[in-house]
Amino acid sequence: MLVRRFKKEDAIKASNVIKKTLLTTNKKDYPKKTIDALIFFNKPKKLIERSKITKLFVAVDKDVILGIGGYEDDHLQCFFVNPSFHKKGIGQKIFDRVIKDMTKEGYKKIYSNSTRYAEKFYEKNGFKKIKKETSPFLDTKITYIVMFKKL
Ligand SMILES: CC(C)(COP(=O)(O)OP(=O)(O)OC[C@H]1O[C@@H](n2cnc3c(N)ncnc32)[C@H](O)[C@@H]1OP(=O)(O)O)[C@@H](O)C(=O)NCCC(=O)NCCS
Repeated sequence: MLVRRFKKEDAIKASNVIKKTLLTTNKKDYPKKTIDALIFFNKPKKLIERSKITKLFVAVDKDVILGIGGYEDDHLQCFFVNPSFHKKGIGQKIFDRVIKDMTKEGYKKIYSNSTRYAEKFYEKNGFKKIKKETSPFLDTKITYIVMFKKL
């Protein structure tokens, strides 16, 4: 398995991984309307658009996309690993690659708007919980845990 920059050719497979994760792992994290909005937000064309601003990375094994993650400014974005492969170190490999990149870019602090499910993953990586927050998101709203770590 390797972690590399996202390419537009990855969009359909990466979008499918995100959709599957949202519909299974994240089912308890968000109401249905928010899940639907997130699926829409992560459709292939939208991922390609976002990748022009958000620096995205994918974990790939023999052409199969296992996970995705990245950052925009000092915020982590779009961390999803195919639920069939959770807790096998894939999220960690993507995270480590992202942190390496952010460190090189000179970031001194990072934030994550975490799901309840991913909170422990971020805690393991040295993040502290700041607060719970709700923001407008497309035609609905989204609640998340704001987490912070110094680099
Ligand atoms: C968060 C996520 C990306 C982590 O990916 P992953 O490949 O399962 O994570 P890893 O296997 O690399 O885990 C790294 C460490 O965190 C721990 N960890 C990961 N998820 C955990 C969880 N839900 N609860 C407790 N510990 C967890 C692992 O046990 C591991 O610890 P270890 O090194 O002591 O063994 C994945 O669970 C996911 O896709 N979640 C759903 C989408 C989501 O909520 N994304 C976050 C958006 S902010």
